[in-house]
Amino acid sequence: MDEFEDKAREALANPQNVGEMEDADAVGTAGSADCGDMLRMWLKFTEKDGTKVIDRASFQSFGCQTAIAVASMATELLKGKSVAEARELSPDELTGELGPLPPMKIHCGQLVEGALQNALGGAPAESSSNPGGNASTLAGSLAKQPTGGIRIVPLEEDEDH
Ligand code: FES
Repeated sequence: MDEFEDKAREALANPQNVGEMEDADAVGTAGSADCGDMLRMWLKFTEKDGTKVIDRASFQSFGCQTAIAVASMATELLKGKSVAEARELSPDELTGELGPLPPMKIHCGQLVEGALQNALGGAPAESSSNPGGNASTLAGSLAKQPTGGIRIVPLEEDEDH
């Protein structure tokens, strides 16, 4: 557990791949009904030996520090993975060097996985026909996202007017 905390702290000190990706080929968003946190992930694909692989990934998190640490690891280890390989990654694998998440934090890894699967078009319905999302705000895109197996929660902003 302590080792996890140390590694998470390390990842948070210098999180990788944070921010919106302007030229992304796909975007996915997931929200956790457990805690209300949200995470969005962008993917850019390239072709390697005739296979579509992830060139780079980035994320934005409106969530806890664990989700940020996991997303930082995940976006690094996604590089070079084929779409099929990325789809098969479990939340545990996405944590990379962080190792297994403590039980209380498992949903934080699932949030990252949810955003990734959503970006990969893993959720049914129209996600693959609208890979760019085209929504300028997270809240706007959430309204458009198919729910699939991911529980989407509304963003609580602009509530004070
Ligand atoms: Fe919600 Fe971590 S506590 S994602």
